[in-house]
Amino acid sequence: MPMIRETIVTTISADDRLHMAPLGLIADGERWIVAPFRPSTTLDNLTAVPFAVANHVDDVRVFAGCLTGRRDWPSVPADQVPVPRLAIALAHMELAVDHVSDDAERPRFHCRVLGHRSHAPFAGFNRAQGAVIEAAILVSRLHFLPREKIERELEYLATAVEKTAGPAEQEAWGWLLAKVQAHFANPGQ
Ligand SMILES: Cc1cc2nc3c(=O)[nH]c(=O)nc-3n(C[C@H](O)[C@H](O)[C@H](O)COP(=O)(O)O)c2cc1C
Repeated sequence: MPMIRETIVTTISADDRLHMAPLGLIADGERWIVAPFRPSTTLDNLTAVPFAVANHVDDVRVFAGCLTGRRDWPSVPADQVPVPRLAIALAHMELAVDHVSDDAERPRFHCRVLGHRSHAPFAGFNRAQGAVIEAAILVSRLHFLPREKIERELEYLATAVEKTAGPAEQEAWGWLLAKVQAHFANPGQ
C-alpha cells in the first residue's frame, strides 16, 4: 500500500470560487495523486482548473470544520498556481495535474509538485489531533457506516481527546460529535 498524507486540498472553480476539503494525498514517487470520489466539488474543480494546493495544517479544526459546514478559513495567494493556500498552513505544496486516470467511482489526478514552502514550525505530535482526523473520516462516511461501528470507534478515540486535547482539538471534537448526534437523531438529513 502506498503512503497517504492527510491534507486540506484547496482548488478553484472555473469562475474562481475557492473550495477546501480534507483529502488523502497518495504518494507516487516524486508525485502525489489526488483521488476525489464522484460526485465532489474537488473533482469538478480539478477538471476545470488543473491545479491544487495541499495544505499541511496542525489546527484540526479545519478538518472538522470542512465536514461540519465551517469552510470559512482565511486564504492567501500561492506562489505559482492560481489556487490560494490556507493562511494557517504550516507548510504547503503547489500541485499541477499532469494526467488523469479516469474511473467511474474515483478518478486519480496525478500531480507534479511545482513548489513546497514552510511557514511555521511543526510543534510535535498530539494524540487528540490524530483522534479528530480519525473522527472526521468517520463523519465523512456517516451515510454508509453502521451506527455500532461509528459509536464504538468514537468511544475509543474519545480517550485521546480527554487525555491530550487543547482548546482547538476540543472545539473540533465538539463539532464532529454534534454532527454525529444530529445524523442519528435524523438519519435522512
Ligand atoms: C482525513 C480525510 C481524508 C479524506 N480523503 C478523501 C479522499 O482522498 N477522497 C475523497 O473523495 N474524499 C476524502 N475525504 C472526504 C472528503 O473530505 C469529503 O467527502 C469532502 O466533502 C469531499 O467532497 P467535496 O470536494 O465536494 O467537498 C476525506 C476526509 C477526511 C476527513
